[in-house]
Amino acid sequence: MVKDSFLTSFLNEERKKIDIEEIKDREKYIQINKEITIEKKNFSYFYNNICFVDDEELVFLFNIDNFEKQKTILAEEEKRVNEIDLEDNGAESELDEFFSDYLSKESIFQNKDVLRIRYLPNTIPHRNTQIKQLASILAPALREEQPSNLFIYGKTGTGKTLCVQHVLSKLKKISLKRNLSLKIIYINCKLKKVADTEYRVIAQLAREIGEEVPMTGLPTDEVYNIFLKKLDIENQIVILVLDEVDRLVKKAGDEILYTLTRINAELKNSQVSIIGISNDVRFVEDLDPRVKSSLGEEELVFPPYNALEIKDILLERSKDAFKKGVVSTSVLAKCAAYAAREHGDARRALDLLRVSAELAERHGDAVIEEKHIDLAEEKIERNRIMEIIETQPKQSQMVLYSILLVIENKKEGSITETGEIFDKYKELCDQTGNRILTQRRISDLLSELGMLGLINTKLISKGRYGRTREVYISIPFDLIDRVKTSLYDLLFN
Ligand SMILES: Nc1ncnc2c1ncn2[C@@H]1O[C@H](COP(=O)(O)OP(=O)(O)O)[C@@H](O)[C@H]1O
Ligand SMILES: [Mg+2]
Repeated sequence: MVKDSFLTSFLNEERKKIDIEEIKDREKYIQINKEITIEKKNFSYFYNNICFVDDEELVFLFNIDNFEKQKTILAEEEKRVNEIDLEDNGAESELDEFFSDYLSKESIFQNKDVLRIRYLPNTIPHRNTQIKQLASILAPALREEQPSNLFIYGKTGTGKTLCVQHVLSKLKKISLKRNLSLKIIYINCKLKKVADTEYRVIAQLAREIGEEVPMTGLPTDEVYNIFLKKLDIENQIVILVLDEVDRLVKKAGDEILYTLTRINAELKNSQVSIIGISNDVRFVEDLDPRVKSSLGEEELVFPPYNALEIKDILLERSKDAFKKGVVSTSVLAKCAAYAAREHGDARRALDLLRVSAELAERHGDAVIEEKHIDLAEEKIERNRIMEIIETQPKQSQMVLYSILLVIENKKEGSITETGEIFDKYKELCDQTGNRILTQRRISDLLSELGMLGLINTKLISKGRYGRTREVYISIPFDLIDRVKTSLYDLLFN
């Protein structure tokens, strides 16, 4: 057994074919054809029992006793190597082709950012009335008078944030030109780290006017005083926008709004106007009457768009977003019709158009067609459902997961009873170490899941045994496995 390691490394580098037919008998050994030399390097692979015989010629000797076996191994190995080669080559050229194809095609976009939600468009169709009203309510700021507090409400995607930002940025520009002291503070209460608690909101407000305060640790009163002091440092009009303020109140109560609407009493130099924006139209009704009356000095409603209005909005945006001829008005109309199905939501329409365009581009199509809209709608709807589920509180997720598990074992499909759900739920609580809520609370959570459109429930009478609720799953059938996996990950990891 000579130079074994040399051979091993050498042969491993040079995996080529051995012609097994050319192997010759020689006593107890079989010798591979002498042509196989180091120079030619046209040999390949070897297993044990191979000897290095000659300096000039590399000769492979196989032990004759297991020659048959070696032959099969060799043949198999050869096949495997060939297959790998094929795969490698195939994949590589396919990928090359894909990229060069991609590069040779023109993008359908002129400026994709125009379709992003945060993009501020130059033209804002169908919001003239609201923009004018906003302007007239805020205009006193230019005379350094405090504008009235304003409460704006309307469903999502009706242009509230856009119009407020549009008018305020104009106002800011003019005030800069005229050297007025106008400060605008905008915070979106949807953001978790910003508006989970009263403390966080005030800390964020302080930060917005350049006062660093720690995220936690100080008493809320103290942070509030820091904020007040900084705010009152100069004579100025401050417009404070609390966007999606309904979220804040749901999380932290309306105490903070009360405090903020009373803020002017504590300031000597500055004057603060508050603009509250809410997506929840019924939100005001539940507010403390004092907050309601001071925040709602002025009110502005943003009605949902109709399909035609959305089409106009899409048309304007697509002029800058796409190259010529990429999108037709009939495609935009379809997009608008989809987005107006529940309520006229411009955000939904823009998302739909952007995703459709991305799908068209991914399919290598040069124009957006109606089929892309359908595909995009499906994709967005699925993501929406997943997002709703993934952002539910843990207890709701456990209830939903329990329902899915119970239904899984049912023959007659998606019907179950609340008692069974509760049993499964308790089991899950044990497994995940979560607190078990009362059956009454679980009932409430079931109602909430119903309102989210994830389940349907029906009350049925059981005669003298009282009543029970039947629960049906209304998540699309082919999404259920994905939901299960995701819930499992969320609950168990
Ligand atoms: N009239 C409009 N013209 C152009 N874009 C609009 C219009 N209304 C809404 N949008 C766009 O739709 C999206 C949602 O609007 P947004 O102002 O965020 O709605 P809201 O704050 O009411 O939920 C944004 O991208 C916005 O630019
Ligand atoms: Mg908004």
